[in-house]
Amino acid sequence: MPCNIVVGGFFGDEGKGKIIAYIVKKDNINLAARGGVGPNAGHTFNLNGQTFKVRMLPSAAFNVKTTLAIGAGVLVNPKILLNEISSFNAQDRTFVDRNCGIIKEEHVMQDSTEGFLKDKIGTTGTGTGPANSDRALRKLSLAKDCLEIKDYLGEVSSMIHSNLDKKNSVLLEGTQGTYLSLYHGGYPFVTSKDVTASSVCADVGIGPKSINEVLVVFKSYITRVGGGPLENELERVESQKRGWLEYGSVTGRERRSSPFNIELAKRSIRLNGATSFALTKLDVLYPECAGVKDYSKLTPSAKKFVEEIEAELGLKAELIGTGADVDSVIDQRS
Ligand code: IMP
Ligand code: MG
Repeated sequence: MPCNIVVGGFFGDEGKGKIIAYIVKKDNINLAARGGVGPNAGHTFNLNGQTFKVRMLPSAAFNVKTTLAIGAGVLVNPKILLNEISSFNAQDRTFVDRNCGIIKEEHVMQDSTEGFLKDKIGTTGTGTGPANSDRALRKLSLAKDCLEIKDYLGEVSSMIHSNLDKKNSVLLEGTQGTYLSLYHGGYPFVTSKDVTASSVCADVGIGPKSINEVLVVFKSYITRVGGGPLENELERVESQKRGWLEYGSVTGRERRSSPFNIELAKRSIRLNGATSFALTKLDVLYPECAGVKDYSKLTPSAKKFVEEIEAELGLKAELIGTGADVDSVIDQRS
């Protein structure tokens, strides 16, 4: 059974939550582990007419058969985590690595009031940057010393390896997007750590040789929230006209938008060592494709859009999103 990674290919908000939820539902994944930064990310998915959002748990939270894990590299906000555990009734299947860093009120305060972070970078204000800074200074408290979450402590790296030994399926979930990487994005308008597939491995404690597939998620257009350049950025009215005006799921801030950028996509494929990609929200560009689940039923112009990207990237669009619902997917995986 495979150990696969899903990461974002642009600036976050590519629709990772929906793609992951689809995979988890379809493949009944045994163990889902979250890597990435922390509660600055909100992964959203719609299932059976209901909208779910997770900021700490993996997007597999809805599936009662999936064990949920949070890797050592992820920052935990105990209050947000406990709320999610109770809303998904996941008390018996949630494990937080003992070495996860803990976000405190002081980190949130600093992130949401300090001029540089709040105004220049436009952070999410969730305390992740200041907490990662304290971690680098070796003064951040860790999960193993946090009484509030003591019932959920685990050794996530060992859990992943023992699941793989038993031939169970493991799905690793990245957060944010490649161009928000502290190393590979447009510094300083980035998040507080690397967020490419390699870092997701490090976050959960697994080496690159154990990974089978790296799926990079792209949206059919690009959005970006917070500061920093966005090539070919549309005027707000144009963005609205095209139906591309979105709002951040954590902060509610308006997202800026631009058309799909093939050069960014190509570089993202390399940075992540992608083996395939997913393309979401094709129905926003081609409304006739809403809810389509069979590739042959796409319109010629929608097919042309997908096939040009596939040819440029030299990879297949294994999953194509055609609507908000988790099941609105064209699945071309072999
Ligand atoms: P931070 O991660 O809160 O420090 O914010 C740094 C930059 O990354 C800001 O531009 C944020 O808007 C952006 N960012 C952080 N997390 C996400 C996310 O999950 N989706 C989209 N943008 C994000
Ligand atoms: Mg998001």
